[in-house]
Amino acid sequence: MSRNWFITGTSSGIGRQLTEQLLARGDRVAATLRRPGALDDLRATYGDALWIGQVDVTDTVGLRSVVDAAFAALGRIDAVVSNAGYGAIGALEEFADAQIDRQIATNFTGSVQLARAVIPHLRAQGGGQFLQIASALGQTASPMTALYAATKWAVEGMCEGLAMEVGAFGIKVTIVEPGAIRTDFGSRSADAAAPMAVYDGTPVDRVRKMSADYPVRGDPVKMAAAIIRCVEGGEAPLRLLLGSDAWPRVTGVVQARLDAWHAQKDVAFSTDLAPAS
Ligand SMILES: NC(=O)c1ccc[n+]([C@@H]2O[C@H](COP(=O)([O-])OP(=O)(O)OC[C@H]3O[C@@H](n4cnc5c(N)ncnc54)[C@H](OP(=O)(O)O)[C@@H]3O)[C@@H](O)[C@H]2O)c1
Repeated sequence: MSRNWFITGTSSGIGRQLTEQLLARGDRVAATLRRPGALDDLRATYGDALWIGQVDVTDTVGLRSVVDAAFAALGRIDAVVSNAGYGAIGALEEFADAQIDRQIATNFTGSVQLARAVIPHLRAQGGGQFLQIASALGQTASPMTALYAATKWAVEGMCEGLAMEVGAFGIKVTIVEPGAIRTDFGSRSADAAAPMAVYDGTPVDRVRKMSADYPVRGDPVKMAAAIIRCVEGGEAPLRLLLGSDAWPRVTGVVQARLDAWHAQKDVAFSTDLAPAS
């Protein structure tokens, strides 16, 4: 069965891979990006199966109008992928204020506003699937990723609540949690903070030195294929954890969190108001 998709951030990486694979299968794609020329080759091959919209996801008005135009052009959109994003990498203290604002505006507010823009359309057509590309860093964190992880934890919370809000309208929500993927994420797209010498010799410094040789295992072709299968399968899991680096990390961190909460159970139950006499 052929489907219609809407995807943000399609100029490279996962967004581009999804677009290529979907078009090759015979699906239609409303691909949005900041640099529309980046899809000229696909447009030449696939013609009208590819609808292109230019938008920066931090432009809420532009995002809303590109969403409206895409639904008008394609009629129905079965799956929306909130993919546009990048990593601001550094210790929290090292960032300029503008770097923090841009990271939140892109990864978090852009995702919130995309969801808000598509929900009325999905509701009107009787349902659909909203997929949020989060990260294994939406469940974990590490030195140098506090800011990036915070935006991915934020979209996790947004999606978990959203799934409960819109399920009644036939709208399913899936949070995709990949580990490291070989895309432009760690190179062209990364926004590095200015290192502060005070962190020399600390875990921040150790991660900073390690990052250049970090063994990225995730294949964008296979990651995109897994995301497509998740929509095709019709089950729409709330979470889709991808990557052999992500799986042990996330399951280990979540188990440790659970163990810590169990150890505090008596404290948690000791803080309620006394029952009314
Ligand atoms: N690669 C990884 O290791 C990894 C792991 C977990 C999660 N992720 C997530 O996967 C998603 C895709 O990243 P990727 O790995 O495919 O990296 P990528 O190759 O750098 O692609 C990122 C895409 O997002 C777009 N983008 C960034 N800011 C934007 C904005 N303000 N408005 C519109 N588009 C914007 C970029 O457009 P331009 O070409 O115009 O810059 C590009 O198309 C991101 O949400 C990222 O956080 C990546």
